[in-house]
Amino acid sequence: MKKICFLSLKGGTGKTTTAFNVATQLANQGLKVLAIDLDPQGYLTCSFGESTAAGRKNVHDVINGVPIKEAIRETKSGVHLIAADLELTTADLDMKNEGREFFMRKALEKVTGYDVVVFDCCPFMGILSVNALVASDELIIPTEPEFLAMRGVRQLYLKVVQIIQKDLNPDLEFSGVVVTKFDSRKRNHRETSEKIAKLFPDKVFETKIRTNVALANATAAGVSIFDFAPDSNGATDYKALTDEVVKRYGLEKKV
Ligand SMILES: Nc1ncnc2c1ncn2[C@@H]1O[C@H](COP(=O)(O)OP(=O)(O)OP(=O)(O)O)[C@@H](O)[C@H]1O
Ligand SMILES: [Mg+2]
Repeated sequence: MKKICFLSLKGGTGKTTTAFNVATQLANQGLKVLAIDLDPQGYLTCSFGESTAAGRKNVHDVINGVPIKEAIRETKSGVHLIAADLELTTADLDMKNEGREFFMRKALEKVTGYDVVVFDCCPFMGILSVNALVASDELIIPTEPEFLAMRGVRQLYLKVVQIIQKDLNPDLEFSGVVVTKFDSRKRNHRETSEKIAKLFPDKVFETKIRTNVALANATAAGVSIFDFAPDSNGATDYKALTDEVVKRYGLEKKV
């Protein structure tokens, strides 16, 4: 069971869009995928066309003692989901016990039968993001090809990932950077992408996700880009990225 965390400290870099479409494409290829929404805003949950309303079991309930398996729901995309809702906002207060950083890792020990677990995180290092990093094998950082975003990747790596690796999860690999919202007509996008590739050799995925409004519209419609606009640049790019993910992490396509 390969656990992959999508995290960046900058907001709006395409974490949720990437987690959602990669998870869906992995499922399209026959892999068993569990997606976990660790953002109280619940955008990943909405992307799957699922409700963020309290009532059905979600991550917040798991934190408050509901067995994790009871919070897993099937979505129409084939991906299984543990949803988020606004109650998750208080996670930093709810999780007070010693060892709280290991909560998700421990909870996942009771989950079997998946090839991949995908975490979508919020853009800051609260207890939820720490839990995702402690539970994960791989960290993928989506970033726009802009100077400040690139700085954010460096900071996340130097100030956070290395500390997590040293103190909490030596198995965590910072194993991927994905350039998102790429516009090849913009010189600063071309130049910054090259700088990112130099700064993080071997980590940057070859596939860049181009700016494509269909991706935003698909999310709003609660379906993946592959169902919404299968011939769009967004679908092409996320298929290529998922192929790279499969290869890089030694996952096996089942269809
Ligand atoms: N390649 C793209 N082209 C056009 N729009 C995109 C692209 N990727 C994401 N978007 C849009 O940009 C916005 C931010 O994307 P997304 O929600 O995936 O980012 P995020 O990093 O998860 O944000 P947050 O930090 O708030 O969680 C959304 O409206 C999304 O639809
Ligand atoms: Mg998000």
